[in-house]
This record gives sequence, structure tokens and C-alpha cells, in this order.
Amino acid sequence: MPRTRSSLVHQAGYALRHPHKIVPHLRRLTRDTWLRLRTRDHVAYYRAVMKSDAARSPEGAVGSHSHKRWLALGRMQFDYLREHGLKPEFRMLEIGCGNLRAGRLFIDYLDHGNYYGIDISPDILIAAQDTIVEHGLHDKLPHLTPVRDLRFAFLPDAHFDVVHAHSVFSHSPPEVIEECFAHVGRVMRAGGWFDFTFDRTVGKEHQVLREDFYYRTETLVAMADRHGLDAVFMDDWERLPHKQSKIRVTRRMSASQP
Ligand SMILES: C[S@@+](CC[C@H](N)C(=O)[O-])C[C@H]1O[C@@H](n2cnc3c(N)ncnc32)[C@H](O)[C@@H]1O
Repeated sequence: MPRTRSSLVHQAGYALRHPHKIVPHLRRLTRDTWLRLRTRDHVAYYRAVMKSDAARSPEGAVGSHSHKRWLALGRMQFDYLREHGLKPEFRMLEIGCGNLRAGRLFIDYLDHGNYYGIDISPDILIAAQDTIVEHGLHDKLPHLTPVRDLRFAFLPDAHFDVVHAHSVFSHSPPEVIEECFAHVGRVMRAGGWFDFTFDRTVGKEHQVLREDFYYRTETLVAMADRHGLDAVFMDDWERLPHKQSKIRVTRRMSASQP
């Protein structure tokens, strides 16, 4: 389980190595403490973080500090998924679609109506609508839906060929990932897959400000296994200039399934 990194020695060492990060960190700590006190659970808290960040810059809120980087990060996700099996006729669910950094490319590539983006933040979904307008994607009629959990209760069985979540579990505590694994198999078609990125650690699992969560690969593989999902670590993603790692999960077929 991720735990708060409470070691003062560790924190002091980190601050000494990165002095320029001290003031922004203290500012975030103050804001996040305030938001945490006013919200009831992680999802409500993170929604409030996104509201605050998106008001400043939607591109910054999804983690890109320049438009060039926003474009590049979207392109990286898209190219990788296309090279790893995406087809225009596939139906895709993007969990935590943000302001469509990659979603705009998926929407453009997929057949009409085949993209379904969900997010806990209504503010970032409004920004996603702006992205659709800016990139002239109206005719593709993408679905964009706010959610309060990852149970997918309103989505049909065995519908999606591909589920994608980039930089979402890096902001999720274990119970949110567990909830996702418990339900995602139901909405995936047989033979479909779910790709997600995560912040990987080989040391102790930990979190920073309840905003960033670091997991060991084997923790997530075991969690997927408990919910009938087979997980494969995507080695070739590691070659790309991105600090998170990627896992692909597929539904395990029982002997009675075709
Ligand atoms: C770092 S942004 C990445 C957005 C998008 N995937 C991309 O690559 O541009 C993380 C997004 O996930 C959303 N998010 C975080 N936790 C979520 C959850 N439990 N369910 C759905 N969306 C979530 C946030 O609101 C935010 O839009």
C-alpha cells in the first residue's frame, strides 16, 4: 500500500538536491491541505485539484507545461497505441480523458461515434469541448461524460475493444485502481485490452500530497490478477521520453467462454 513519505531525512535530502522546488511545493501543500479539508474522499479532492488547476491552464492541469509538450504527449500516446493494435473500427473508452491531449487524435482516427471519454472533472471536460471545436472534430460526435467513480455502471457489457488511461493511476490511491479493475472487464469485449500508465517505483510505495502515487509493478499485476485480468508490462514504452511506465491488461477467459 502506498504510504506517506514521512521520513524527514528523506524530505530534507530531496529539498537540498532540488532547492527550486521548495516554494512551489509549499504553495501546493497549502492549497492541497485546504482542498482536502473541504472534500469527503479522494475523487472529490482530486476533482477540486483539477478545478483549481484547469482555471489557470487546462493544458497545465493535465501535466503539460507548454503547448508544444501537450501536442507531443498526445502524439506519443496515439502513435504507441496505433502501433500496438488500434484500428479505426474499434470502440474506445478513455478513462481520465482530460482536455483530449491524446483524445483529439483518437477521435480523428476512430470511426464516427467510437470514442468515449470519461473524467471526474467537469471543468476539464468543458476544456475538452474547446479542443473538439479547435480541432474541427464535431462530425466525429465523440462522447464526453463526467463520472464520480470507476464502476462504469451506465456503460454496456462487452462494448469496448480498447480502454486507455494515461496518467490517471499516477493520481489514484489503491482503492480507486481496485475499483476500476473490479469493473473494467465487464465493459471490455473478449479480446479487448486496457492500457494504463503508472508512476513506477522499485522501492517503497508512496504518495506525494495525495496527488501523485508511486506503485511497484508487481502490486498492480497482483491487483489485476485478483479481478481476472492478465497484466503485461509494456517494455518498449520504456524507450519513449516519458517518466511513467505502461501495463496492458486483458480479460482472462474461463474454459467455458468461446
Ligand atoms: C494528468 S491528467 C491526464 C489526462 C489525459 N489522460 C491526458 O493524457 O492528457 C489526469 C486526468 O485524469 C482525471 N482523473 C483522475 N482520477 C480519475 C478517476 N478516478 N476517474 C476518472 N478520471 C480521473 C483527471 O481529472 C485528469 O483529467
